[in-house]
Amino acid sequence: MTQSTQSNRRVVLASRPHGAPTPANFRLEEQAIPTPADGQVLLRTVYLSLDPYMRGRMSDGPSYAEPVAVDGVMVGAVVSRVVESKHAKFAKGDWVLANSGWQDYALSDGTDLMPLGQAPKNPSCALGILGMPGFTAYMGLLDIGKPKAGETLVVAAATGPVGATVGQIAKIKGCRVVGVAGGVEKCRYAVEVQGFDACIDHHAPDFAQQLAQACPQGIDVYYENVGGKVFDAVLPLLNTKARIPVCGVIANYNATALPPGPDRLALLMSTILIKRLTVQGFIIFDDYAPRYPEFSADMQKWLANQQITYREDLVTGLANAPEAFIGLLQGSNFGKLVIQVGPEEQ
Ligand SMILES: NC(=O)c1ccc[n+]([C@@H]2O[C@H](COP(=O)([O-])OP(=O)(O)OC[C@H]3O[C@@H](n4cnc5c(N)ncnc54)[C@H](OP(=O)(O)O)[C@@H]3O)[C@@H](O)[C@H]2O)c1
Repeated sequence: MTQSTQSNRRVVLASRPHGAPTPANFRLEEQAIPTPADGQVLLRTVYLSLDPYMRGRMSDGPSYAEPVAVDGVMVGAVVSRVVESKHAKFAKGDWVLANSGWQDYALSDGTDLMPLGQAPKNPSCALGILGMPGFTAYMGLLDIGKPKAGETLVVAAATGPVGATVGQIAKIKGCRVVGVAGGVEKCRYAVEVQGFDACIDHHAPDFAQQLAQACPQGIDVYYENVGGKVFDAVLPLLNTKARIPVCGVIANYNATALPPGPDRLALLMSTILIKRLTVQGFIIFDDYAPRYPEFSADMQKWLANQQITYREDLVTGLANAPEAFIGLLQGSNFGKLVIQVGPEEQ
């Protein structure tokens, strides 16, 4: 079933997952396309971004954001086209960045829309390198990580939109960059295409030893994307005054309980004390929204100068979003995961 002009398909949260999400936690529904009132636009989704934070919204535990309601449309950023406008600032055919979630059509009063013009060059980039993940990489690295030339930076999920961008900005700043990724192919890509100095496969049985060998001068910045065994391997390698922007801990997102012992909290706290580590979490738009223009200007320049490359993992069809999202949490994506929901042409 493809996007139609007759009905609105939407993916709703059918039930809350316990552990890893399954297809049964999602439901594809069809309903009438809504009609815009005065001051509103009707949007048609072209690209839907799938991001790890959506796992948190499927649960109703304590978080920085409200959960998706059961039977509610799954949240998500989209790149859409205006199908019908009763809003003075938007015309039919305009491209916008919106928050319509996992569905074909949605209404907006314009307050949550970012205009992308009538003919953006690569519209889906607004969901990745020029959007939330790129901005996250930039602010976490530069504001908290504070990389200096000659220092060693480690980042995991190294071929994903955040990790790939962190590592490439750190190279621009003169760092030695060591990535961590799942599998030989991703690791080769991080080195050969993204220009990392090394990349270690976290599935390797001797992963911790390989990481230590790749960081002979220790680690000055560890950009935390995953937690789990990667953090365990990083901890003993951290240098005095190392900085750790805590961006995400995806290894824990499907966890239903704390990991088995031994309890390493005492080791962590004494390492923070002895090494005088800076460990700081951040939520990108809550903490840095006013600095988006600074990011955007730098990133446009780096892309134009071909100092940063960007890889997209494009999956076709809204109905395939649940499976693609389940895979994202297990590392089956290779690059920024985007769903093509409908055609670019009007
Ligand atoms: N704080 C914020 O405001 C903010 C904003 C955006 C993103 N984030 C966080 O940033 C991180 C990266 O996001 P992204 O959009 O760039 O995701 P991504 O890299 O496209 O996808 C997640 C990747 O995490 C890796 N992974 C999954 N489970 C893992 C495990 N147990 N151990 C090691 N690696 C694992 C997989 O890559 P491999 O196959 O390479 O292991 C997977 O492809 C996530 O933790 C996300 O929640 C935070």
